Amino acid sequence: MSDIQEATNQLLDISPLENQKFIQVAERHHRKETELLQVTIGATVPTGFEQTAADEVREKLRSSCKISKDRGKIYFDISAESLAQVHCLRSVDNLFVVVQEFKDYQFKETKEEVLKDFEELAQNLPWSAPMAVWKMNNSFKKKKTKCKKTNPNSSKDKINKEQGGKRAERDVKKEFMSNSWDSNILDYYENPAIKEEISTLVGDDLASSKEDETEDSSKGETDLQVLKFRVTCSRAGEKHCFTSSEAARDFGGAVQEYFKWKADMTKFDVEVLLNIHDNEVIVGIALTEESLHRRNITHFGPTTLRSTLAYGMLRLCTPQPSDVVVDPMCGTGAIPIEGATEWSNCHHIAGDNNPLAVNRTANNIQSLLTKNQIQESKPSWGLPIDALQWDVCNLPLRTGSVDIIVTDMPFGKRMGSKKRNWNLYPAGLQEMGRVCRPGTGRAILLTQDKKCFTKALSGMGHMWRKVHTVWVNIGGLHAAVYLLKRTHQAFDHPSGQDGEKGAPW
Ligand SMILES: C[S@@+](CC[C@H](N)C(=O)[O-])C[C@H]1O[C@@H](n2cnc3c(N)ncnc32)[C@H](O)[C@@H]1O
Repeated sequence: MSDIQEATNQLLDISPLENQKFIQVAERHHRKETELLQVTIGATVPTGFEQTAADEVREKLRSSCKISKDRGKIYFDISAESLAQVHCLRSVDNLFVVVQEFKDYQFKETKEEVLKDFEELAQNLPWSAPMAVWKMNNSFKKKKTKCKKTNPNSSKDKINKEQGGKRAERDVKKEFMSNSWDSNILDYYENPAIKEEISTLVGDDLASSKEDETEDSSKGETDLQVLKFRVTCSRAGEKHCFTSSEAARDFGGAVQEYFKWKADMTKFDVEVLLNIHDNEVIVGIALTEESLHRRNITHFGPTTLRSTLAYGMLRLCTPQPSDVVVDPMCGTGAIPIEGATEWSNCHHIAGDNNPLAVNRTANNIQSLLTKNQIQESKPSWGLPIDALQWDVCNLPLRTGSVDIIVTDMPFGKRMGSKKRNWNLYPAGLQEMGRVCRPGTGRAILLTQDKKCFTKALSGMGHMWRKVHTVWVNIGGLHAAVYLLKRTHQAFDHPSGQDGEKGAPW
Protein backbone atom coordinates (compact mmCIF):
# COMPACT_ATOMS: atom_id res chain seq x y z
CA MET A 1 0.00 0.00 0.00
CA SER A 2 1.37 3.44 -0.88
CA ASP A 3 2.06 6.16 1.71
CA ILE A 4 -0.84 8.12 0.34
CA GLN A 5 -3.35 5.28 0.52
CA GLU A 6 -2.25 4.39 4.03
CA ALA A 7 -2.57 7.95 5.17
CA THR A 8 -5.98 8.23 3.54
CA ASN A 9 -7.26 5.07 5.21
CA GLN A 10 -6.12 6.20 8.63
CA LEU A 11 -7.95 9.44 8.18
CA LEU A 12 -11.28 8.19 7.00
CA ASP A 13 -12.90 9.36 10.23
CA ILE A 14 -11.52 12.86 9.97
CA SER A 15 -13.32 15.83 8.47
CA PRO A 16 -12.99 16.24 4.68
CA LEU A 17 -10.92 19.42 5.09
CA GLU A 18 -8.39 17.83 7.43
CA ASN A 19 -8.38 14.74 5.28
CA GLN A 20 -7.56 16.84 2.24
CA LYS A 21 -4.70 18.55 4.06
CA PHE A 22 -3.26 15.26 5.17
CA ILE A 23 -3.38 13.87 1.65
CA GLN A 24 -1.58 16.95 0.39
CA VAL A 25 1.17 16.51 2.98
CA ALA A 26 1.51 12.82 2.15
CA GLU A 27 1.64 13.58 -1.55
CA ARG A 28 4.33 16.20 -1.01
CA HIS A 29 6.30 13.72 1.03
CA HIS A 30 5.96 11.11 -1.70
CA ARG A 31 7.00 13.62 -4.39
CA LYS A 32 10.03 14.61 -2.33
CA GLU A 33 11.06 10.99 -1.94
CA THR A 34 10.78 10.45 -5.69
CA GLU A 35 12.78 13.59 -6.43
CA LEU A 36 15.62 12.33 -4.27
CA LEU A 37 15.90 9.08 -6.20
CA GLN A 38 19.33 8.57 -7.71
CA VAL A 39 19.31 7.18 -11.23
CA THR A 40 21.65 6.82 -14.19
CA ILE A 41 20.67 8.63 -17.34
CA GLY A 42 21.88 7.51 -20.75
CA ALA A 43 21.97 9.91 -23.68
CA THR A 44 22.67 9.52 -27.36
CA VAL A 45 24.85 12.30 -28.77
CA PRO A 46 26.26 13.10 -32.23
CA THR A 47 29.15 10.69 -32.76
CA GLY A 48 32.47 12.40 -32.23
CA PHE A 49 30.93 14.90 -29.79
CA GLU A 50 30.75 12.59 -26.77
CA GLN A 51 33.40 14.59 -24.90
CA THR A 52 31.65 17.89 -25.64
CA ALA A 53 28.41 16.43 -24.28
CA ALA A 54 30.22 15.12 -21.20
CA ASP A 55 31.66 18.61 -20.61
CA GLU A 56 28.21 20.15 -20.87
CA VAL A 57 26.79 17.65 -18.36
CA ARG A 58 29.66 18.32 -15.96
CA GLU A 59 29.18 22.07 -16.29
CA LYS A 60 25.37 22.23 -16.07
CA LEU A 61 24.51 19.26 -13.83
CA ARG A 62 27.75 18.94 -11.88
CA SER A 63 27.77 15.26 -12.67
CA SER A 64 30.65 13.31 -14.12
CA CYS A 65 30.02 11.30 -17.25
CA LYS A 66 30.97 7.93 -18.54
CA ILE A 67 31.54 7.87 -22.27
CA SER A 68 30.39 4.55 -23.64
CA LYS A 69 32.66 2.38 -25.72
CA ASP A 70 29.60 2.17 -27.91
CA ARG A 71 30.28 5.49 -29.67
CA GLY A 72 27.58 8.11 -29.53
CA LYS A 73 26.37 7.49 -25.96
CA ILE A 74 27.14 8.97 -22.58
CA TYR A 75 25.95 8.00 -19.08
CA PHE A 76 25.67 10.14 -15.97
CA ASP A 77 24.09 9.93 -12.52
CA ILE A 78 21.50 12.43 -11.33
CA SER A 79 18.94 12.76 -8.60
CA ALA A 80 15.50 12.76 -10.16
CA GLU A 81 14.88 16.39 -9.16
CA SER A 82 17.36 17.43 -11.89
CA LEU A 83 15.32 15.79 -14.62
CA ALA A 84 14.02 19.10 -15.98
CA GLN A 85 17.63 20.33 -16.39
CA VAL A 86 18.54 17.15 -18.23
CA HIS A 87 15.93 18.00 -20.86
CA CYS A 88 17.59 21.41 -21.29
CA LEU A 89 20.97 19.96 -22.31
CA ARG A 90 21.89 21.18 -25.79
CA SER A 91 24.24 18.42 -26.89
CA VAL A 92 22.08 15.34 -26.35
CA ASP A 93 19.67 13.83 -28.84
CA ASN A 94 17.73 11.20 -26.90
CA LEU A 95 17.51 10.34 -23.23
CA PHE A 96 16.77 7.17 -21.31
CA VAL A 97 16.90 6.09 -17.71
CA VAL A 98 19.03 3.04 -17.10
CA VAL A 99 17.25 0.12 -15.45
CA GLN A 100 20.37 -2.00 -15.23
CA GLU A 101 23.75 -2.22 -16.86
CA PHE A 102 25.65 -5.49 -17.37
CA LYS A 103 29.22 -4.67 -18.26
CA ASP A 104 30.18 -8.24 -19.02
CA TYR A 105 27.00 -10.15 -19.75
CA GLN A 106 27.60 -13.88 -20.12
CA PHE A 107 25.73 -15.05 -23.19
CA LYS A 108 24.99 -18.77 -23.20
CA GLU A 109 26.03 -21.02 -26.05
CA THR A 110 22.77 -21.55 -27.91
CA LYS A 111 20.18 -19.13 -29.14
CA GLU A 112 17.44 -20.86 -27.14
CA GLU A 113 19.39 -20.49 -23.91
CA VAL A 114 20.21 -16.84 -24.56
CA LEU A 115 16.60 -16.00 -25.32
CA LYS A 116 15.41 -17.90 -22.25
CA ASP A 117 17.80 -15.78 -20.16
CA PHE A 118 16.36 -12.61 -21.66
CA GLU A 119 12.90 -13.80 -20.64
CA GLU A 120 14.05 -14.38 -17.08
CA LEU A 121 15.90 -11.09 -16.98
CA ALA A 122 12.70 -9.07 -17.27
CA GLN A 123 11.35 -10.18 -13.90
CA ASN A 124 14.64 -9.73 -12.08
CA LEU A 125 15.38 -6.13 -13.00
CA PRO A 126 15.18 -3.20 -10.54
CA TRP A 127 12.32 -1.44 -12.35
CA SER A 128 10.84 0.68 -9.57
CA ALA A 129 13.21 3.71 -9.45
CA PRO A 130 13.46 3.97 -13.26
CA MET A 131 9.68 3.68 -13.56
CA ALA A 132 9.20 6.42 -10.94
CA VAL A 133 11.53 8.62 -13.00
CA TRP A 134 9.66 7.68 -16.19
CA LYS A 135 6.46 8.84 -14.50
CA MET A 136 7.99 12.15 -13.38
CA ASN A 137 9.40 12.61 -16.84
CA ASN A 138 5.97 12.71 -18.47
CA SER A 139 5.62 16.35 -17.48
CA PHE A 140 8.90 17.31 -19.19
CA LYS A 141 8.75 15.18 -22.26
CA LYS A 142 8.05 16.87 -25.57
CA LYS A 143 5.49 14.98 -27.61
CA LYS A 144 6.37 13.71 -31.04
CA THR A 145 5.08 15.82 -33.90
CA LYS A 146 5.80 13.88 -37.01
CA CYS A 147 4.12 10.83 -38.49
CA LYS A 148 5.70 7.45 -38.13
CA LYS A 149 6.65 5.43 -41.17
CA THR A 150 6.78 1.69 -41.22
CA ASN A 151 9.12 -0.24 -43.41
CA PRO A 152 7.03 -1.93 -46.05
CA ASN A 153 9.48 -4.82 -46.16
CA SER A 154 8.55 -5.89 -42.70
CA SER A 155 4.87 -6.57 -43.33
CA LYS A 156 3.19 -8.74 -40.81
CA ASP A 157 2.52 -11.48 -43.34
CA LYS A 158 6.12 -11.74 -44.38
CA ILE A 159 7.40 -11.93 -40.84
CA ASN A 160 4.77 -14.40 -39.76
CA LYS A 161 5.76 -16.63 -42.64
CA GLU A 162 9.42 -16.44 -41.70
CA GLN A 163 8.99 -16.91 -38.00
CA GLY A 164 5.85 -18.97 -37.62
CA GLY A 165 7.53 -22.38 -37.57
CA LYS A 166 10.22 -21.55 -35.06
CA ARG A 167 7.82 -19.77 -32.80
CA ALA A 168 5.50 -22.77 -32.63
CA GLU A 169 8.48 -24.88 -31.68
CA ARG A 170 9.58 -22.63 -28.91
CA ASP A 171 6.14 -21.78 -27.70
CA VAL A 172 6.81 -18.06 -27.55
CA LYS A 173 4.03 -15.86 -26.39
CA LYS A 174 1.44 -15.68 -29.09
CA GLU A 175 0.74 -11.99 -28.55
CA PHE A 176 3.96 -11.05 -30.28
CA MET A 177 3.21 -11.94 -33.82
CA SER A 178 5.36 -9.57 -35.76
CA ASN A 179 8.38 -7.34 -35.75
CA SER A 180 8.48 -4.08 -37.53
CA TRP A 181 10.86 -1.26 -38.28
CA ASP A 182 10.08 2.29 -37.47
CA SER A 183 12.37 4.74 -39.18
CA ASN A 184 12.02 7.13 -36.26
CA ILE A 185 13.64 4.81 -33.80
CA LEU A 186 16.86 5.58 -35.60
CA ASP A 187 16.77 8.82 -33.68
CA TYR A 188 17.78 6.79 -30.69
CA TYR A 189 20.50 4.80 -32.21
CA GLU A 190 21.53 6.63 -35.33
CA ASN A 191 25.11 5.67 -35.08
CA PRO A 192 26.57 4.84 -38.43
CA ALA A 193 30.01 4.54 -36.85
CA ILE A 194 29.19 1.00 -35.89
CA LYS A 195 27.18 -1.72 -37.54
CA GLU A 196 24.06 -1.89 -35.47
CA GLU A 197 20.90 -3.86 -35.89
CA ILE A 198 17.73 -2.39 -34.46
CA SER A 199 14.38 -4.07 -33.97
CA THR A 200 11.23 -2.91 -32.37
CA LEU A 201 8.87 -5.45 -31.10
CA VAL A 202 5.29 -4.91 -32.07
CA GLY A 203 2.54 -6.80 -30.41
CA ASP A 204 -0.69 -7.08 -32.30
CA ASP A 205 -3.67 -5.82 -30.35
CA LEU A 206 -4.03 -8.16 -27.47
CA ALA A 207 -7.16 -10.21 -27.40
CA SER A 208 -9.80 -8.13 -25.68
CA SER A 209 -10.63 -11.15 -23.54
CA LYS A 210 -7.27 -10.63 -21.84
CA GLU A 211 -8.00 -7.03 -21.00
CA ASP A 212 -9.88 -7.49 -17.71
CA GLU A 213 -7.35 -9.86 -16.31
CA THR A 214 -4.57 -7.48 -17.33
CA GLU A 215 -6.11 -4.50 -15.58
CA ASP A 216 -6.73 -6.43 -12.39
CA SER A 217 -3.23 -7.66 -11.97
CA SER A 218 -1.31 -4.52 -12.86
CA LYS A 219 1.88 -4.19 -10.78
CA GLY A 220 1.97 -1.60 -8.03
CA GLU A 221 4.81 0.33 -9.67
CA THR A 222 2.53 1.72 -12.35
CA ASP A 223 -0.87 3.35 -12.31
CA LEU A 224 -4.04 1.33 -12.32
CA GLN A 225 -4.50 1.99 -16.01
CA VAL A 226 -2.94 -0.57 -18.34
CA LEU A 227 0.09 0.98 -19.99
CA LYS A 228 1.00 0.37 -23.60
CA PHE A 229 4.61 -0.41 -24.36
CA ARG A 230 7.10 -1.51 -26.92
CA VAL A 231 10.61 -2.88 -26.72
CA THR A 232 13.39 -1.62 -28.98
CA CYS A 233 16.52 -3.70 -29.17
CA SER A 234 19.74 -2.41 -30.71
CA ARG A 235 22.49 -4.94 -31.16
CA ALA A 236 26.06 -4.49 -32.30
CA GLY A 237 28.73 -7.14 -32.23
CA GLU A 238 29.90 -10.09 -34.25
CA LYS A 239 29.58 -12.89 -31.76
CA HIS A 240 25.85 -13.02 -31.05
CA CYS A 241 23.87 -16.11 -32.01
CA PHE A 242 20.55 -14.23 -32.00
CA THR A 243 19.10 -11.24 -33.84
CA SER A 244 17.85 -8.01 -32.35
CA SER A 245 14.29 -8.91 -33.34
CA GLU A 246 14.49 -12.24 -31.50
CA ALA A 247 15.84 -10.53 -28.41
CA ALA A 248 13.17 -7.80 -28.59
CA ARG A 249 10.43 -10.38 -29.07
CA ASP A 250 11.36 -12.68 -26.19
CA PHE A 251 12.47 -10.01 -23.76
CA GLY A 252 9.35 -8.01 -24.71
CA GLY A 253 7.12 -11.00 -24.11
CA ALA A 254 8.53 -11.38 -20.63
CA VAL A 255 8.19 -7.65 -19.87
CA GLN A 256 4.56 -7.87 -20.86
CA GLU A 257 4.06 -10.94 -18.72
CA TYR A 258 5.66 -9.21 -15.75
CA PHE A 259 3.87 -5.86 -15.91
CA LYS A 260 0.72 -7.03 -17.69
CA TRP A 261 1.18 -4.13 -20.07
CA LYS A 262 -0.24 -4.05 -23.55
CA ALA A 263 2.08 -4.12 -26.55
CA ASP A 264 1.60 -1.31 -29.04
CA MET A 265 4.13 -0.40 -31.68
CA THR A 266 2.96 3.15 -32.35
CA LYS A 267 0.84 4.43 -29.48
CA PHE A 268 3.03 3.28 -26.62
CA ASP A 269 3.38 4.95 -23.24
CA VAL A 270 6.59 3.19 -22.28
CA GLU A 271 9.46 2.33 -24.58
CA VAL A 272 11.80 -0.23 -23.07
CA LEU A 273 15.27 -0.27 -24.60
CA LEU A 274 17.52 -3.27 -24.79
CA ASN A 275 20.99 -2.15 -25.92
CA ILE A 276 23.43 -4.90 -26.65
CA HIS A 277 26.97 -4.06 -27.65
CA ASP A 278 29.30 -7.06 -27.71
CA ASN A 279 29.20 -8.24 -24.08
CA GLU A 280 27.64 -5.10 -22.69
CA VAL A 281 23.88 -5.15 -22.11
CA ILE A 282 21.94 -2.12 -20.94
CA VAL A 283 18.22 -2.10 -20.25
CA GLY A 284 16.65 1.34 -20.20
CA ILE A 285 13.39 3.24 -20.45
CA ALA A 286 13.15 6.02 -23.02
CA LEU A 287 12.60 9.54 -21.67
CA THR A 288 12.30 11.31 -25.02
CA GLU A 289 9.71 10.68 -27.68
CA GLU A 290 11.31 13.02 -30.15
CA SER A 291 15.02 13.72 -30.41
CA LEU A 292 16.01 16.91 -28.60
CA HIS A 293 17.86 18.11 -31.71
CA ARG A 294 14.48 19.02 -33.17
CA ARG A 295 14.16 22.31 -31.41
CA ASN A 296 14.93 25.31 -33.61
CA ILE A 297 14.21 24.51 -37.21
CA THR A 298 10.77 24.53 -38.81
CA HIS A 299 11.78 25.33 -42.41
CA PHE A 300 14.10 22.53 -43.49
CA GLY A 301 16.54 22.49 -46.38
CA PRO A 302 18.29 19.63 -48.15
CA THR A 303 21.16 19.48 -45.64
CA THR A 304 19.84 20.94 -42.40
CA LEU A 305 22.29 20.27 -39.59
CA ARG A 306 21.14 18.84 -36.24
CA SER A 307 20.97 21.53 -33.58
CA THR A 308 22.91 19.23 -31.26
CA LEU A 309 25.78 19.05 -33.73
CA ALA A 310 25.60 22.82 -34.29
CA TYR A 311 25.88 23.25 -30.52
CA GLY A 312 28.90 20.92 -30.39
CA MET A 313 30.65 22.87 -33.15
CA LEU A 314 29.96 26.22 -31.51
CA ARG A 315 31.14 24.96 -28.15
CA LEU A 316 34.46 23.87 -29.63
CA CYS A 317 35.38 27.49 -30.22
CA THR A 318 34.23 28.82 -26.81
CA PRO A 319 32.38 32.00 -27.81
CA GLN A 320 32.98 34.94 -25.47
CA PRO A 321 30.62 37.84 -24.72
CA SER A 322 30.50 40.39 -27.57
CA ASP A 323 32.21 38.03 -30.03
CA VAL A 324 31.12 38.37 -33.66
CA VAL A 325 30.24 34.85 -34.83
CA VAL A 326 29.66 34.27 -38.54
CA ASP A 327 28.25 31.36 -40.52
CA PRO A 328 29.05 32.32 -44.13
CA MET A 329 27.26 29.26 -45.64
CA CYS A 330 24.31 29.07 -43.28
CA GLY A 331 21.72 27.09 -45.26
CA THR A 332 18.64 27.02 -43.03
CA GLY A 333 20.50 28.78 -40.22
CA ALA A 334 20.87 25.81 -37.85
CA ILE A 335 24.27 26.99 -36.58
CA PRO A 336 23.60 30.72 -36.05
CA ILE A 337 20.15 30.06 -34.57
CA GLU A 338 21.59 27.60 -32.05
CA GLY A 339 24.36 30.14 -31.41
CA ALA A 340 21.98 33.03 -30.83
CA THR A 341 19.88 30.93 -28.48
CA GLU A 342 22.72 29.63 -26.37
CA TRP A 343 25.29 32.46 -26.69
CA SER A 344 22.92 35.40 -26.78
CA ASN A 345 25.66 37.77 -25.64
CA CYS A 346 27.44 37.34 -28.98
CA HIS A 347 26.46 38.87 -32.29
CA HIS A 348 25.64 36.23 -34.90
CA ILE A 349 25.70 36.85 -38.64
CA ALA A 350 24.37 34.30 -41.13
CA GLY A 351 24.71 34.38 -44.90
CA ASP A 352 24.30 32.17 -47.93
CA ASN A 353 24.52 32.74 -51.66
CA ASN A 354 21.22 30.96 -52.24
CA PRO A 355 18.21 33.26 -51.72
CA LEU A 356 16.06 30.25 -50.79
CA ALA A 357 18.45 29.41 -47.96
CA VAL A 358 18.43 33.01 -46.67
CA ASN A 359 14.62 32.94 -46.73
CA ARG A 360 14.56 29.71 -44.79
CA THR A 361 16.91 31.15 -42.20
CA ALA A 362 14.70 34.25 -41.84
CA ASN A 363 11.61 32.05 -41.51
CA ASN A 364 13.29 29.84 -38.93
CA ILE A 365 14.28 32.88 -36.87
CA GLN A 366 10.73 34.21 -37.07
CA SER A 367 9.12 30.87 -36.13
CA LEU A 368 11.40 30.48 -33.14
CA LEU A 369 10.64 34.00 -31.95
CA THR A 370 6.92 33.36 -32.27
CA LYS A 371 7.24 30.05 -30.39
CA ASN A 372 9.21 31.73 -27.60
CA GLN A 373 6.66 34.54 -27.36
CA ILE A 374 3.82 32.05 -27.06
CA GLN A 375 5.67 30.03 -24.44
CA GLU A 376 6.62 33.03 -22.36
CA SER A 377 3.35 34.90 -23.12
CA LYS A 378 5.22 38.17 -23.46
CA PRO A 379 6.94 40.01 -26.31
CA SER A 380 10.42 38.73 -26.99
CA TRP A 381 13.55 40.87 -27.38
CA GLY A 382 14.40 38.96 -30.51
CA LEU A 383 17.53 37.02 -31.34
CA PRO A 384 20.95 38.59 -31.92
CA ILE A 385 21.16 37.45 -35.55
CA ASP A 386 21.39 39.10 -38.95
CA ALA A 387 20.78 37.08 -42.08
CA LEU A 388 21.76 38.16 -45.58
CA GLN A 389 22.62 36.93 -49.02
CA TRP A 390 26.31 36.93 -49.91
CA ASP A 391 29.11 34.97 -51.50
CA VAL A 392 31.56 33.39 -49.07
CA CYS A 393 34.35 34.31 -51.51
CA ASN A 394 33.47 38.00 -51.33
CA LEU A 395 32.06 38.86 -47.91
CA PRO A 396 30.73 42.36 -47.17
CA LEU A 397 32.62 42.40 -43.87
CA ARG A 398 35.61 44.44 -42.73
CA THR A 399 39.02 42.81 -42.65
CA GLY A 400 39.80 41.37 -39.20
CA SER A 401 36.30 42.11 -37.84
CA VAL A 402 35.13 38.57 -37.05
CA ASP A 403 36.04 36.54 -33.96
CA ILE A 404 34.61 33.15 -34.89
CA ILE A 405 33.56 31.45 -38.11
CA VAL A 406 31.45 28.32 -37.76
CA THR A 407 30.16 26.70 -40.90
CA ASP A 408 29.06 23.51 -42.56
CA MET A 409 30.55 23.56 -46.06
CA PRO A 410 28.93 21.92 -49.11
CA PHE A 411 30.05 18.28 -49.12
CA GLY A 412 29.71 18.18 -52.89
CA LYS A 413 27.17 15.36 -52.66
CA ARG A 414 23.69 16.59 -51.89
CA MET A 415 24.86 20.21 -52.01
CA GLY A 416 27.20 21.63 -54.67
CA SER A 417 29.69 19.34 -56.39
CA LYS A 418 33.17 18.01 -55.62
CA LYS A 419 34.39 19.74 -58.76
CA ARG A 420 33.09 23.13 -57.65
CA ASN A 421 34.64 22.60 -54.21
CA TRP A 422 38.13 22.78 -55.80
CA ASN A 423 37.48 26.49 -56.44
CA LEU A 424 35.11 27.21 -53.55
CA TYR A 425 37.24 25.83 -50.69
CA PRO A 426 40.49 27.76 -51.36
CA ALA A 427 38.66 30.98 -52.23
CA GLY A 428 36.34 30.59 -49.21
CA LEU A 429 39.22 29.84 -46.81
CA GLN A 430 41.12 32.85 -48.10
CA GLU A 431 38.15 35.19 -47.60
CA MET A 432 37.38 33.74 -44.15
CA GLY A 433 41.05 34.36 -43.31
CA ARG A 434 40.67 37.98 -44.40
CA VAL A 435 37.65 38.75 -42.22
CA CYS A 436 38.87 36.78 -39.20
CA ARG A 437 40.81 38.66 -36.50
CA PRO A 438 44.55 37.82 -36.67
CA GLY A 439 45.93 36.19 -33.53
CA THR A 440 42.62 35.41 -31.78
CA GLY A 441 40.19 34.49 -34.55
CA ARG A 442 39.17 30.86 -35.00
CA ALA A 443 37.12 28.78 -37.37
CA ILE A 444 35.18 25.55 -37.00
CA LEU A 445 34.55 24.03 -40.39
CA LEU A 446 32.61 20.86 -41.14
CA THR A 447 33.12 18.98 -44.39
CA GLN A 448 33.06 15.53 -45.82
CA ASP A 449 35.25 16.56 -48.75
CA LYS A 450 38.41 16.10 -46.69
CA LYS A 451 40.74 15.73 -49.65
CA CYS A 452 39.76 19.05 -51.16
CA PHE A 453 39.76 20.76 -47.76
CA THR A 454 43.23 19.46 -46.83
CA LYS A 455 44.61 20.61 -50.16
CA ALA A 456 43.03 24.06 -49.83
CA LEU A 457 44.29 24.42 -46.26
CA SER A 458 47.82 23.44 -47.22
CA GLY A 459 48.05 26.64 -49.25
CA MET A 460 46.85 28.83 -46.34
CA GLY A 461 49.48 28.11 -43.71
CA HIS A 462 50.21 31.85 -43.36
CA MET A 463 46.59 32.46 -42.21
CA TRP A 464 45.24 29.24 -40.74
CA ARG A 465 46.72 26.70 -38.33
CA LYS A 466 44.86 23.43 -37.79
CA VAL A 467 44.57 22.70 -34.06
CA HIS A 468 42.18 19.79 -33.82
CA THR A 469 39.98 17.48 -35.90
CA VAL A 470 36.78 15.82 -34.67
CA TRP A 471 35.53 12.89 -36.75
CA VAL A 472 31.77 12.78 -37.09
CA ASN A 473 29.15 10.80 -38.92
CA ILE A 474 26.54 12.79 -40.76
CA GLY A 475 23.80 10.50 -42.03
CA GLY A 476 26.33 7.74 -42.65
CA LEU A 477 28.95 10.01 -44.24
CA HIS A 478 32.34 10.11 -42.58
CA ALA A 479 32.96 13.82 -42.09
CA ALA A 480 35.45 16.00 -40.25
CA VAL A 481 35.10 19.09 -38.10
CA TYR A 482 38.30 21.14 -38.27
CA LEU A 483 39.21 23.63 -35.58
CA LEU A 484 41.48 26.28 -37.11
CA LYS A 485 43.23 29.19 -35.43
CA ARG A 486 43.90 32.43 -37.30
CA THR A 487 47.62 33.15 -37.30
CA HIS A 488 48.97 36.56 -36.24
CA GLN A 489 49.79 37.49 -39.79
CA ALA A 490 47.77 40.46 -41.01
CA PHE A 491 45.86 39.94 -44.21
CA ASP A 492 47.86 40.99 -47.16
CA HIS A 493 45.55 42.52 -49.75
CA PRO A 494 46.63 41.42 -53.21
CA SER A 495 45.44 44.78 -54.58
CA GLY A 496 47.35 46.69 -51.90
CA GLN A 497 44.14 48.29 -50.54
CA ASP A 498 43.89 49.24 -46.87
CA GLY A 499 41.75 46.30 -45.93
CA GLU A 500 38.26 47.66 -46.53
CA LYS A 501 36.23 45.49 -48.80
CA GLY A 502 32.67 45.79 -50.03
CA ALA A 503 30.12 47.60 -47.92
CA PRO A 504 31.28 48.39 -44.35
CA TRP A 505 29.53 46.21 -41.80
C1 LIG B 1 25.94 22.05 -46.23
S1 LIG B 1 24.98 23.41 -46.59
C2 LIG B 1 24.76 24.20 -45.05
C3 LIG B 1 23.60 23.63 -44.29
C4 LIG B 1 23.29 24.37 -43.03
N1 LIG B 1 24.29 24.17 -42.00
C5 LIG B 1 21.92 24.02 -42.51
O1 LIG B 1 21.80 23.59 -41.36
O2 LIG B 1 20.96 24.14 -43.26
C6 LIG B 1 26.07 24.46 -47.43
C7 LIG B 1 25.50 25.79 -47.83
O3 LIG B 1 26.51 26.52 -48.50
C8 LIG B 1 25.88 27.37 -49.42
N2 LIG B 1 26.88 27.86 -50.39
C9 LIG B 1 27.45 27.20 -51.41
N3 LIG B 1 28.31 28.01 -52.06
C10 LIG B 1 28.28 29.21 -51.43
C11 LIG B 1 28.92 30.45 -51.63
N4 LIG B 1 29.79 30.64 -52.63
N5 LIG B 1 28.65 31.45 -50.77
C12 LIG B 1 27.78 31.29 -49.77
N6 LIG B 1 27.12 30.14 -49.54
C13 LIG B 1 27.37 29.12 -50.36
C14 LIG B 1 24.79 26.50 -50.02
O4 LIG B 1 23.77 27.29 -50.60
C15 LIG B 1 24.32 25.73 -48.79
O5 LIG B 1 23.20 26.33 -48.22
